Amino acid sequence: MTPSPPTRDARLPPGPRLPTTVQAAIWAVRPLAFLDHCAARHGDLFTLQIRRRPWVVVSDPEHVKRVFTTDAALVGAGAGEANPLLEPLLGSSSVMLLDEPEHLGDRRRLLPSFHGERMRAYGAMMSAVAERHVAKWPTGEPFALWPRMQAISLDVVISAVFDEIEPARRELLAVRLVELTNWINHPRRLALLAGVGKRSLTSSTRFREALGRVEDVVLDEVRARRARFKSDGTEREHNDIHSMLEREYGGEHAGPDGERKLRDELVTMLSDGPTATSLAWVFERLLRHPDKLARLREEVLGGERDEYLDGCVKETLRLCPAVPLVMRRLLQPMQLGRYTIAADTIVAPCVHLTHRRPDVYPDPLEFRPERFLVDAAGTYTWIPFGGGVRRCVAWYFAQLEMKRVIEVVLRRFDLRPASDRDEGATRSSVSFAPNDGALVIATRHTAGANGRAAVVA
Ligand code: HEM
Repeated sequence: MTPSPPTRDARLPPGPRLPTTVQAAIWAVRPLAFLDHCAARHGDLFTLQIRRRPWVVVSDPEHVKRVFTTDAALVGAGAGEANPLLEPLLGSSSVMLLDEPEHLGDRRRLLPSFHGERMRAYGAMMSAVAERHVAKWPTGEPFALWPRMQAISLDVVISAVFDEIEPARRELLAVRLVELTNWINHPRRLALLAGVGKRSLTSSTRFREALGRVEDVVLDEVRARRARFKSDGTEREHNDIHSMLEREYGGEHAGPDGERKLRDELVTMLSDGPTATSLAWVFERLLRHPDKLARLREEVLGGERDEYLDGCVKETLRLCPAVPLVMRRLLQPMQLGRYTIAADTIVAPCVHLTHRRPDVYPDPLEFRPERFLVDAAGTYTWIPFGGGVRRCVAWYFAQLEMKRVIEVVLRRFDLRPASDRDEGATRSSVSFAPNDGALVIATRHTAGANGRAAVVA
């Protein structure tokens, strides 16, 4: 634990002395290297000047805990500051961008969709979706896993939002979501977004059109369901995310505010990018560690345990977190070490740096799923889903999805990397992905006697 020093310092913690525009430019093109460099130079607590408000970056678990456990009413949402894409994409009334008390109210309404009985049903759905997709994967030639994982995770999230959806509309929604994401993911646009902020999107007709095409399909489905439920009276039988949101914000009397709210929450749910990038990373890492891959395959084909699978998922989310930092905007001053951080500053628990602390994770750059067989993931040291009252609502859902998809892939294929080179991280719309998309070559299996896989030529 960091002892509280006797003196208090009202200045900001130190940080690079570069002008804001230069820091913003470095952040735009080399964000992870910038974080590593600042931590090496300034230690656990440093300040970046990238946008209007300073960001105080923290990675000492005690500081992370302080930020995540501070009364929710004293810290506002900072996600829009971390990722300027969020507000134009999700809408200003998305749960991710609201302050208290609205945030907690919305969160409570969403949480039942991610708990208990629902999860058992989701697990089976996730395996079925993965089976359907992998049946179409190419064999014997290099292909990138990331877009394939993106297709799977989109299909999964569409099924969680709308339990029954006409196949043609499902297809159209998936195509339009991919078009929108691909448009945003162009490296030049991402760099502009990170450097200039949300103006680079809100002023773009192409962005508004691509987003409008997604909204059109989502709202068409909402209207079609309303008509169907009205005629057959089955609304109460549906427990999917849309039905639950519809009961809160939809209906004939909800008015334009309810309609906007419904749109923002549906687009928030459908904009899942981190699960696909995390799945791409699992394989990128495992394929460079054949011994670990063999151990995992044996466990999966044995079909009785899943400790090592859980370790592989946790270790991937540690070493290659989809979101490198989460943010809170201070509504009151906060004491961090000897610094009194003023209100209206951003404090940013840094997932990337916390996960690479050698005092918590010996040899932190090594991919070692075994770590999590010995020690459980710590609440303030393993934070890929953030923490406190803003922790990702889908933290369990996302890990379940990763496990079900990994199992299906390992049962069906032998994978090898298409190149010997480790893939670095590249920005994508809401996360960080392997820069060649996790390039692999697959060979198909059929299940042999005793459930063991046999390779088919
Ligand atoms: C591996 C996959 C995922 C990762 C790594 C991830 C990570 C995160 C992170 C870091 C946050 C911010 C937490 C904070 O500020 O403390 C967050 C929030 C959120 N995530 Fe996820 N996420 C994943 C998948 C998903 C999925 C699949 C959904 C929905 C279907 C989802 C919905 C949300 C929502 C609604 C919030 C806002 C929660 C709130 O403000 O109360 N996430 N996620």
